Amino acid sequence: MAEKQLRILVTGAGRGIGRSIVDQLKKNPLQHKIAVTARTESELTAAVAGATGETLVIPADATDSAVPQKIIDTVISQWGGIDAIFLNAGEAQVLPIEQTTDDVWNHILNLNTTAPMRFLRSATPQMKEQKFGRVIVIASIAGLMGEGFVTAYTASKHAVIGLVRSAAVELQKYGITVNALCPGYVDTPMLTKGLEVSAQRTGKTINELREVLAAKQPGGRLLTADEVAEAALSFIDSDGTGQALWLDAATKKFY
Ligand SMILES: NC(=O)c1ccc[n+]([C@@H]2O[C@H](COP(=O)([O-])OP(=O)(O)OC[C@H]3O[C@@H](n4cnc5c(N)ncnc54)[C@H](OP(=O)(O)O)[C@@H]3O)[C@@H](O)[C@H]2O)c1
Repeated sequence: MAEKQLRILVTGAGRGIGRSIVDQLKKNPLQHKIAVTARTESELTAAVAGATGETLVIPADATDSAVPQKIIDTVISQWGGIDAIFLNAGEAQVLPIEQTTDDVWNHILNLNTTAPMRFLRSATPQMKEQKFGRVIVIASIAGLMGEGFVTAYTASKHAVIGLVRSAAVELQKYGITVNALCPGYVDTPMLTKGLEVSAQRTGKTINELREVLAAKQPGGRLLTADEVAEAALSFIDSDGTGQALWLDAATKKFY
């Protein structure tokens, strides 16, 4: 990873992929400064436990329109700037389209697309001034292809990749890269929650459904959160921008 100590924000850092990103950052000898946010404070405190560098725990709901700016302001006022942001907080709701109400649609788009836009917008002035920034969005292969029963999620991930591609072009000349990572199915609490809903709809067990998902993925298995975190962290050292990088158990060696 980078040669210098960085000031890094991770959203959705309490569990799953965000937690793995924090775990891997904590192992870095440069002792990066790590700010973490999500709604559940106890999970955030556990995530930063044992860090040898400075940390900031900022419990907040990312769907509140004022929150992203407040979080970015907090990090900048504490540490004088912000170098990298992992925009990872997200949610899926598994529903047939006729049950995808306006409330579901608006909530998923708000969390998965609008909140990342607000974080990026709020960090841009500081990153431009520094002439350096790394913005990594954890999107999904649902941002690149369709899957049934997740229309709001799929639309939100396609849209966030549009945000990444446009911002990357606009910000490249300021030394700011903006990239999306697009993992297939990852073994996290989000996946288990989705499987519980699918089990009710299909009558299959969670284990049966887990095996179906694993078998249909290239590589024949689910990704681990650690694999996704490792791929996400690789963007820190790269000058590449505007990418939407497909990640599955077969391709993971090639990012
Ligand atoms: N798991 C997969 O198969 C998979 C595949 C591809 C992409 N992804 C993407 O990867 C990202 C992380 O997924 P995951 O599987 O690690 O999910 P997860 O295990 O459910 O963790 C989600 C994290 O986001 C936080 N979060 C959720 N709603 C929030 C809100 N309103 N405000 C602030 N924080 C919120 C959660 O904390 P609180 O609930 O405490 O707020 C938690 O820390 C998501 O963007 C997801 O779409 C996941």
